[in-house]
Amino acid sequence: MVLSMVEAIAPATSANLGAGFDVFGVALDVLFDRVLVERIVANKTIEITVDGEGAEEIPREPEKNTAGVVAKELLKLSREKCGLRIKIHKGIKPGSGLGSSAASAAAAAVAINELLGLELSQLQLIETATLGEMTSAGAPHADNVSAAILGDFIVITSRKPLEVLKLKLPPNVEFAIVSPEIKFNTSLARSVLPRKVALSSMIYNVSRAATFIAGITLNNIEIMGKGMNDMVVEPARAHLIPGLNHVKKKALDAGAAGVTISGAGPSVIALVDSKRADAEKIALTMVEAFDELGVKSRSFHAKPGPGAKVVRKE
Ligand code: HSE
Repeated sequence: MVLSMVEAIAPATSANLGAGFDVFGVALDVLFDRVLVERIVANKTIEITVDGEGAEEIPREPEKNTAGVVAKELLKLSREKCGLRIKIHKGIKPGSGLGSSAASAAAAAVAINELLGLELSQLQLIETATLGEMTSAGAPHADNVSAAILGDFIVITSRKPLEVLKLKLPPNVEFAIVSPEIKFNTSLARSVLPRKVALSSMIYNVSRAATFIAGITLNNIEIMGKGMNDMVVEPARAHLIPGLNHVKKKALDAGAAGVTISGAGPSVIALVDSKRADAEKIALTMVEAFDELGVKSRSFHAKPGPGAKVVRKE
């Protein structure tokens, strides 16, 4: 059957989770981007419309839009001589550190793959969606798109060639997330990172990342939380998020197992063992903590969730 339209959704994601810079990612079950793709038979253009959260910030030119880049790439792969009309509904605010651009790219990849009958593997979809990420972050990091496509928690075990493992997190894992009204983009957050790191920092970060994974295999959220410290990336970005340390302390005092910047920020994510603490309360505590410093914010609480999927096709 030749399809004329496909709609897909992809979830918000949180990358890094402490020491797993560009390597760890988790899909969240609260916020989604929705991408509807229709075939244009008359010509080979790519038309993009955007509405929803922060739509005014999203470029419509295909070569500057994450979903547009994915569309160009997949049209090249397909033998079809058609164009594509892409309607993006943003549920995830751009520049919040919750994988907004990755979600649009992932949902577009999944929808166009289905529409054009390309039958790409999940790794091929991740590679394609990662090209979209290049346009917003200026770097081909695959952590957000991998989690957005595969769901749950992912580890990038190799970047070239791309290899990704998906792990189930312990059943009581929840996340408390706070998104402050602070503006900077991922390119800036990457430009402040050190080019070289001390051996002692490398040892510290490897031990933290290993501790996080050990916590998962031991089903121990407390140990996972101990693995959420980072001596390299977070200290370099901390000045971009005024009040970060205050917010982290408040979340830990309220019972979070670990707290760190979500992706490139400015959102902050706390890991919560739902048997020991209440993720919603911790999220509100973090809002209050930002509030005390005069920074407005909003909060979410989430569980690890599924990856991108087709929700409608005709
Ligand atoms: N790993 C990336 C970074 C995620 O921290 O720059 C961006 O969302």
